[in-house]
Amino acid sequence: MKVKVVLLTGGSSGIGAATASLLAAKDIKVYAASRSGKAPDNDGIIPIVTDVNDSEAIKATVKKIYELEGHLDAVICNAGNGIAGAVEDTTVDEIRYQFETCFYGAVRTIDACLPVFRQQGYGKIITVTSVAGFIPIPFQAFYSSVKAALLMLTKALSLEVKPYGIQCCSVLPGDTKTGFTAARKYVEHAEDGPYAHVMKRSIAKMEKDEQNGMPPEKIAKAILRQLKARRMKATVTPRFDYRTIEILSRLLPTRTVLWLVGKLYC
Ligand SMILES: NC(=O)c1ccc[n+]([C@@H]2O[C@H](COP(=O)([O-])OP(=O)(O)OC[C@H]3O[C@@H](n4cnc5c(N)ncnc54)[C@H](OP(=O)(O)O)[C@@H]3O)[C@@H](O)[C@H]2O)c1
Repeated sequence: MKVKVVLLTGGSSGIGAATASLLAAKDIKVYAASRSGKAPDNDGIIPIVTDVNDSEAIKATVKKIYELEGHLDAVICNAGNGIAGAVEDTTVDEIRYQFETCFYGAVRTIDACLPVFRQQGYGKIITVTSVAGFIPIPFQAFYSSVKAALLMLTKALSLEVKPYGIQCCSVLPGDTKTGFTAARKYVEHAEDGPYAHVMKRSIAKMEKDEQNGMPPEKIAKAILRQLKARRMKATVTPRFDYRTIEILSRLLPTRTVLWLVGKLYC
């Protein structure tokens, strides 16, 4: 089944905006959802104001697309944000905030699409997770945790929905130059806790790496490739160096991985 109509969350900026532009250039109609409702001004991109944290809004969005198009071929759960701070300095409300958009937002979006996909007997689900989902990132422990959770959800879901002709894939970007860095929120007590000094140095290094990172178009290409594939891969980690890190993280003892990450960031 050729993918012609896609719902993309987080289409207003960064990876989402680059993906919307690339898909539209390949004649795929993109409904680009975000809270601001901004999207690249290209033919074939329809901006939609939707907050993925609002179940009714995301359901209404899917219903509207289905009524207009008569089908919905794929969903890309890309909306996300990040918090920074030491585990001890992070409150449960701040952890909930991290999980709200990146995990529950993706789950709400997927849940809204599944009845349509099941009825059609096909549909592609792509989640945008992160290399932070397999590399434990200090002072972004909850970002790492939420991406690991979404990655696992995507894999488990793929087994449940396979009989309905639905495929799932998770794309795992490494450092990518987007608005994500500026949008990152520090937890309230990040700067006055006992970890403040190391945390600041560590996050500053990560932010520098993000801003020197790959262009979002690289991730967009990886997403397009999966949308075009007859069978999507279970996971895709763009760029050779990140794929190598992923393989090493599986092969090396956890203690060695932690030592290496600590050398880099602590
Ligand atoms: N940049 C990186 O280095 C990197 C690395 C690995 C993974 N990622 C992941 O890639 C994805 C895209 O991030 P990005 O780097 O492109 O960052 P970005 O430029 O900050 O884009 C984030 C997008 O998410 C949208 N968004 C946030 N909260 C939302 C909500 N509640 N409902 C709907 N849309 C919402 C934002 O739009 P509005 O503000 O208009 O709602 C924006 O379009 C995220 O899931 C991120 O975790 C990024």
